[in-house]
Amino acid sequence: MPIIEAKNLVKRYKIIEKQEGLLGYFKSLINPQYKEITAVNNINFKIEEGELIGYIGENGAGKSTTIKMLTGLLTPTSGKIVVNGLVPNEKRIQNNKNIGAVFGQKTQLWWDLPVIESFRLIKKMFKIPESEYRKNLKNFTKILDLEELLDKQVKNLSLGQKMRCEIAATFLHNPKIVYLDEPTIGLDVFVKENIRKFIKEINKEKKTTVILTTHDLKDIEDVCDRIILLDRGQIIYDGEKQKFKDTYGKYTLAELIVNSKNINIKNKLTSKNFEIIEENECRLKIKFKHDEVTIVKIMNDISKYCIIEDIHMRESELEDILKEIYKGAYRNGKNGDSTWKNAIEKI
Ligand SMILES: Nc1ncnc2c1ncn2[C@@H]1O[C@H](COP(=O)(O)OP(=O)(O)O)[C@@H](O)[C@H]1O
Ligand SMILES: [Mg+2]
Repeated sequence: MPIIEAKNLVKRYKIIEKQEGLLGYFKSLINPQYKEITAVNNINFKIEEGELIGYIGENGAGKSTTIKMLTGLLTPTSGKIVVNGLVPNEKRIQNNKNIGAVFGQKTQLWWDLPVIESFRLIKKMFKIPESEYRKNLKNFTKILDLEELLDKQVKNLSLGQKMRCEIAATFLHNPKIVYLDEPTIGLDVFVKENIRKFIKEINKEKKTTVILTTHDLKDIEDVCDRIILLDRGQIIYDGEKQKFKDTYGKYTLAELIVNSKNINIKNKLTSKNFEIIEENECRLKIKFKHDEVTIVKIMNDISKYCIIEDIHMRESELEDILKEIYKGAYRNGKNGDSTWKNAIEKI
């Protein structure tokens, strides 16, 4: 049985329609005109216990809205959510025992207290047995490197230090499900790696189900097995990460280090088989499909205009693929209507 199920889930927000100019501003104060926007537009998914889900999509796609509904903070406009047998917004207190959540930079720790005191309060709130608390504290302190931070007041911690403590606090009561909405935003690479390692270890050890939204696709590459990709409130891909990469990541990227180049090669070339995506005096970035052209042929074409000194190649990564998708490479129709159905059916 899935631990999380969303069925025909919809969330609309009612917002006041802005009117132009100062007059419009006063008009909308006196007689506000409302309009509705659909943030989540009829989505369905099932998540099994222990899955590590990357919930991704552009800004405004509806990720946070979904997560707020899953945690019970928001009530769906229509549709149904069941999390660990409960409807979250109807059974908030019971549901809270099973879950942990991090929302960007909002803190759940007590600002003026030392970190360890916040942890003790959480222990009390969730009635965590002493032995379990000690075991977790010891383990989390080790993985997240918290030793030096426990006695410091939360308000005196740096962003990265705070987030490490935040993550520990979230997992302290052994939640079955953890929602992490942009937990790595603004953090340096070491802290990010620390957090990724932590999530993976706890998931392995305790089978914690994790739903992670992030703009850093390295988080997804490192942590998640399955991705759910949201586009303007609708799910456009839901499946294994590797399958997604295999299907969409048809491009190879090559970087050529060149010299003696004195023209713009991109303007000169007529080949449709490859695309120069970046060009400067000593570097060319090229995108091509293996089954359409070989790197030897490309080098042959390019070497008419410069001397090629070196070459680096890599297969396209999640980030490259998503850039293409966000640019609309898989959309068509005049108003950018998605034709994801076809694309998804191919997967
Ligand atoms: N409280 C709110 N009131 C009105 N509109 C909102 C509210 N929260 C989010 N939205 C709108 O809903 C859409 C989805 O937002 P959100 O769920 O925050 O997306 P994401 O987390 O993917 O960036 C956006 O168009 C956003 O402007
Ligand atoms: Mg968001």
